[in-house]
Amino acid sequence: MWPDISSGLGRLWLPPTHETMDRMNSTPARLTVPDFVARKASGRKLVMLTAYDFPTAQLLDEAGVDAILVGDSLSMAVQGHDSTLPVTLDEMIYHAEIVGRAVRRALVLVDLPFPTNHLGVHRAVEYAGRILKETRCQAVKLEGGADQADVITGLVSAGIPVMAHVGLRPQSVHTMGGYRVQRDRERLLADARAAQDAGAFSVLLECIPAPLAAEITQVLHVPTIGIGAGSACDGQVLVVNDLLGLTSGYVPRFVKQYADLRTVILDAARRYADDVRGGTFPSSAHGYSQ
Ligand code: KIV
Repeated sequence: MWPDISSGLGRLWLPPTHETMDRMNSTPARLTVPDFVARKASGRKLVMLTAYDFPTAQLLDEAGVDAILVGDSLSMAVQGHDSTLPVTLDEMIYHAEIVGRAVRRALVLVDLPFPTNHLGVHRAVEYAGRILKETRCQAVKLEGGADQADVITGLVSAGIPVMAHVGLRPQSVHTMGGYRVQRDRERLLADARAAQDAGAFSVLLECIPAPLAAEITQVLHVPTIGIGAGSACDGQVLVVNDLLGLTSGYVPRFVKQYADLRTVILDAARRYADDVRGGTFPSSAHGYSQ
């Protein structure tokens, strides 16, 4: 279980922080799970983004993002499905291996895809174990709270760090009848507490009212990571395609778009097409005379 790091005893228990390692060593240290947990007490916000490929993961790592999630959102963002349900464990591992190879500094987490954490504790350990064995990633994320407590405990006792994901659970889209803000205070508090008590090192809160996310963040001693859950969470996560403006069609209101790569890519592809069709590319500067 994760100690209450706001107490003196908890501080003694934790290994040297990432920041300490950074000062001792000129090469950037890899952010560890205990470093991630310790950030709650330090008050420094945790920055997390998704990534699914080598160049993006390398750039996010270089930009100093603390954690990179190989999310099952790859089902929608990369594979073009209309939900997160179709992506398979092998496909998640394929992308996680690529991302894990690109990242030097950030903590890398991988989503357990539907329904791998609903097939019993043994199979969850087998599947999450494959992720840690076959990729350089350090932790898994799973959707669930109280209903997943036994799975979280089983994974943690096998040495597999777990981030729990409560609130809106995209893998339960059919049960929820759509992607809706979750407002059941008692259930959300119980889910977050149960995940922490089962050994989760962090709890992701998706699409819940900001005051409720603030209350959960105050009650828990492990960090909360919010998406559509207000600014009081200990950190924030976004899907990288949304942040970069690569998503076509509906984008949730909690997204802030920091770039417009759709326009950049469309413009570059159209100018290239014009040049090829007009005979101005390749020019002599882009070829070999002999
Ligand atoms: O898969 C994903 O991208 C997620 C988001 C909530 C960050 O889980």
